[in-house]
Amino acid sequence: MRAMLPLLLMLGPASVLAQSLAVSSPDGKLTFTLSDDDTPHYQVSREGRALLGDSALGLSMLEIGDMGPGYRIVKAARHHSDSQWEQPWGERHYVQDNHNELAATFANDAGQRFVLRVRVFDDGLGFRYEVPAQPHLSTVNITDERTEFRIAGSDKVTAWSIPARQWDRYEYPYRTSTLEAVQSAQTPLTMKLPGGVHLSIHEAALVNYAAMTLNQRRPGVLKADLTPWSDGIKVKTAAPFMSPWRTIEVGSATDLVNSSLILNLNEPNKLGDVSWVKPGKYIGIWWAMHLGRMTWGSGLHHGATTANAERYMDFAARYGFDGVLVEGWNQGWDGDWVKNGDKFSFTQPYPDFDIKAITAYGAGKGVKLIGHHETGGHVSNYEAQLDDAMALYQRLGVSQVKTGYVADGGEIDRRDAKGIRRHEWHDGQFMVNHYQKVVTEAAKYHIAINSHEPIKDTGLRRTYPNWISREGARGQEYNAWGTPPNSPEHTVMLPFTRLLAGPMDFTPGIFDLAPTDLKDGNRVQTTLAKQLALYVTIYSPIQMAADLPENYQKHLDAFQFIRDVPTDWEESKALAGAVGDYLVMARKARGGKDWYLGAITDEQARVLPVKLDFLDSGTRYEAQIYRDGAKADWQSNPYDYVIEKKTVSRSDTLTLKLATSGGAAIRFKALEQ
Ligand code: NOJ
Ligand code: CA
Repeated sequence: MRAMLPLLLMLGPASVLAQSLAVSSPDGKLTFTLSDDDTPHYQVSREGRALLGDSALGLSMLEIGDMGPGYRIVKAARHHSDSQWEQPWGERHYVQDNHNELAATFANDAGQRFVLRVRVFDDGLGFRYEVPAQPHLSTVNITDERTEFRIAGSDKVTAWSIPARQWDRYEYPYRTSTLEAVQSAQTPLTMKLPGGVHLSIHEAALVNYAAMTLNQRRPGVLKADLTPWSDGIKVKTAAPFMSPWRTIEVGSATDLVNSSLILNLNEPNKLGDVSWVKPGKYIGIWWAMHLGRMTWGSGLHHGATTANAERYMDFAARYGFDGVLVEGWNQGWDGDWVKNGDKFSFTQPYPDFDIKAITAYGAGKGVKLIGHHETGGHVSNYEAQLDDAMALYQRLGVSQVKTGYVADGGEIDRRDAKGIRRHEWHDGQFMVNHYQKVVTEAAKYHIAINSHEPIKDTGLRRTYPNWISREGARGQEYNAWGTPPNSPEHTVMLPFTRLLAGPMDFTPGIFDLAPTDLKDGNRVQTTLAKQLALYVTIYSPIQMAADLPENYQKHLDAFQFIRDVPTDWEESKALAGAVGDYLVMARKARGGKDWYLGAITDEQARVLPVKLDFLDSGTRYEAQIYRDGAKADWQSNPYDYVIEKKTVSRSDTLTLKLATSGGAAIRFKALEQ
């Protein structure tokens, strides 16, 4: 075979050996074409129009070099699957998984092989590498992934991106630019092609592998750029192994939001009965620290005191919240806690925090303490205490823990097997495995995890439903101290970018929008009504009411919406929207009859007609509308809101008037017939 190769190559692209295989979506519109001409590559088209041009595939390994050039398709298998599965909690109860699959085996003359498995859905596709056990390949060190995404017409493509491997991890404002101006990007990377088709490139089921970021080589060619270990290797594994799915969602802006593709490409629940994982709402001793009014560390202004915790628990019980998050409860916060993260104890409370008394006090009122583990990025210190830390919380009835990894990108601190200090990225393979380890260990103690400074979400909540939420983008905290704070467009950017990956613990609900002055830089750049709408537009099964309890007392009428809104849904539908401009989202309560709607806009005021045809037929609803007042404006008059009621049904249309950086939040309360 090898001797014949030069001759065959001389025959050029039409070489007899070159093969092309196509697989289309169930509706026939989206097509993935795989070829082995020269090097394995693929194309994607929709209704005959190219979305991605010839894009390379392959992996490079220390042991055997490239799995790529010279590999030919030797076998192909096809499969169709249309099934439905149930989520224990989620943005929808039932998820449809309808796809066509192609599994192509590529081999070279030396007999090395890999399988490229492709699944094409109506709203996008995923493909992954599967490397079976084979000669010359036991231990595997991946030095590069050759996957490319060659975007058609890239000079006219708009991209919404945050950069990869910078110090602030995923916490950058989204930048709107031409695709060609993007140097590096985190995924999900969302783009709009001429003609209006949107693409979102991401990955699903990131397990025991490095995160994929994107790097623009030639104009329009995005190449997979795996985050390396501290020694430069990208992935350390052994054959057989599989890469995560490389995913491309395709459709309108709202199609992306409504897609379940990422979840569908993850493994089913591995934890069995997860009825102990509870969606819900919480408050916390938290915002006061971000405002600088209380401290995490000990002293006069220590926030995590028994008295404060009980005061917050009283408020939670009175207004129907499930939990109270308390940060700064444990020894180790004094001094520079990021630098000294190895000093954190996860079992020793400060003396003024009587954790036993507090949890017992809460239990008497039906309110749980929500645990907190800030590591400062010192993960070996955390891993050494993980079991004891989870066991303590379980004994105290704590069933949800927020974790934290505040350390610059590339500055995760770990000790290797020899005790040598190494610095890793938050999204390298070492940390991918660490986050998963915390989640699976926590599951043994029936504890759910809300990771801050996390690895990006790739849908693993399906497999580990106790991975209840995470941060992984600029959250509300930036409005307290960020330079700059989150702009009016930030929360209209998130649903079309970061949130395509999965739930986010953004922590909405700030009512005192300018804690110092309306003219100050650090303030919340929205109207109050928009803060309410965020409970619907940002999906998370746990939602915080982030402000100080006293600030809710001043607007109890508006606070009612936060009290009413559920965090677990039967169905969710993005009704209208444009990336970074506006979004109208409707969701139906899980196990209930009521619908909720959130509409938000960027710095532009908008009038949005909303057809109510998502409502159930044969039902009349009382629409409880919380909206911007006629004079509302985020800069000068953010507190102008109106609460009104109307009787509506699915044949009605509501006209929503959103102020600059404004919003509307509506509860459609089903009326007894
Ligand atoms: C960053 C988290 O996002 C924030 O919520 C938390 O308060 C601080 N770290 C301290 O752990
Ligand atoms: Ca953070």
